[in-house]
Amino acid sequence: MHSHEATAVLDHQTAVMEQIAAGAPLSAVLDSVVRALEELMPASQCSILLLDDAGTLRHGAAPSLPEAYSVAIDGLAPGPFAGSCGTAVHLGEPVVATDVRTDTRWEDFRDVAGRHGLRACWSSPIRCRSSVVGSFAVYHRTPYEPDRRDRELVRRFAHLASVAVEHDRAANEREARHVADLARQTAERANHAKSQFVTALGHELRTPLQSITGFTESLETLDLSPDQRRLALERIRLASTHILAIVDDVLDLARVEAGAMPFELGEVRAHEVITESLQLIQPLAERRNVTVEHRGPPAAVSADRRRLQQVILNLVSNAVRFSPAHSTVRVVTEPGDGRAIVHVVDQGPGIPGELLARLFVPFDRLGADAGREGGAGLGLVLARRLTEAMNGTLELSSVVGEGTHVTVTLAAPGPVSPGVSPGVSPGVSPGVSPRASPGVSPRRPRPATGRAAPA
Ligand SMILES: Nc1ncnc2c1ncn2[C@@H]1O[C@H](COP(=O)(O)OP(=O)(O)O)[C@@H](O)[C@H]1O
Ligand SMILES: [Mg+2]
Repeated sequence: MHSHEATAVLDHQTAVMEQIAAGAPLSAVLDSVVRALEELMPASQCSILLLDDAGTLRHGAAPSLPEAYSVAIDGLAPGPFAGSCGTAVHLGEPVVATDVRTDTRWEDFRDVAGRHGLRACWSSPIRCRSSVVGSFAVYHRTPYEPDRRDRELVRRFAHLASVAVEHDRAANEREARHVADLARQTAERANHAKSQFVTALGHELRTPLQSITGFTESLETLDLSPDQRRLALERIRLASTHILAIVDDVLDLARVEAGAMPFELGEVRAHEVITESLQLIQPLAERRNVTVEHRGPPAAVSADRRRLQQVILNLVSNAVRFSPAHSTVRVVTEPGDGRAIVHVVDQGPGIPGELLARLFVPFDRLGADAGREGGAGLGLVLARRLTEAMNGTLELSSVVGEGTHVTVTLAAPGPVSPGVSPGVSPGVSPGVSPRASPGVSPRRPRPATGRAAPA
């Protein structure tokens, strides 16, 4: 090779290597390889075919061959009579067909080659780590026999193509490994959340079960007075009710998570559901000396009536349970444009910002005692999941010393009715700011976004 030619080869090689390093797609790199060789071998037309996983030769690059020819060759199966490329890949060595019209290996492809004016084809296997990954073909429009210089050029450029293929495969492998890693991590996290859930459930059931066992044993072995017997039985009843409530919540949660809970979405008058819920909660509110108010215009929502009540009961009972005596819990309906909002606002102690993320973690009561009327720490998780399953959102914000504000937003049923002012902002609306102290503008409470996947 003359020195000016060696320089040209080197220049092409460098350009291709730079393209590879820059992360160009394989097809673009192979195009450059082919074009470079065509420039160095006048009157040639080159192509690269690549083996796919099924062992079939696929189009890699052929920028100057007629497209119809490339299409006809795409999907070629290697074999002893598969033209130059299929045979070269089959044998693992170069195949030179100086004239395809007379070459026996071209019998099946003579017509298609003839249609596109291709007369000679010399193909060399491309190797990657010693296995054949494709072929590098040089076509001529007249019978042609490659000389030493031609062979040397093809050797170099086939090598360059193999570098590009190898680089591409390594990148794909890295990508596949990365995707697999991510999937594994996600599965591990879900698994971890699940075992945490099961552990917490076990702890949660243990206390009332121990209570049942203990009092049953006392009833059996001790000579109790009628009053003592009644007390023991009452404790057993309470513990059983508590267990039943936990099991109901766990099953509901599992059903929502699995998308197996049947929802009958329809037009529901939210204010009616609220009125009913407040009646159910009234005894608890009276015991705790908390006033519960219901305000706001009637609002219709798209919901499952029973599940909406479950959500409201959960939220209002939290508000009542965590509020001090003589305070007020407000439930406010706010019809809007295409949606309706239910606010549950209390004047309780509020929740410190650092605990907000734990609010939606199953069984996490943020250190609060379950007490006699408390729950298992599933209420908020379940309320949020139920709301989401009804295409709504549940957000909680809280300010320590001021109170907690839960916002449930649901879609309004049917088309938007005209005359409703759009752009009603969710969140704090007039008159529902928790314990609005005079002169203090209502602070925008932090929203809680923490969530955890249960079973
Ligand atoms: N309105 C509220 N005010 C203050 N703390 C609350 C309020 N609602 C919920 N919390 C806190 O969040 C925890 C989890 O609530 P929840 O999921 O309903 O479980 P549970 O009511 O069974 O304890 C409660 O134990 C309590 O510590
Ligand atoms: Mg609760």
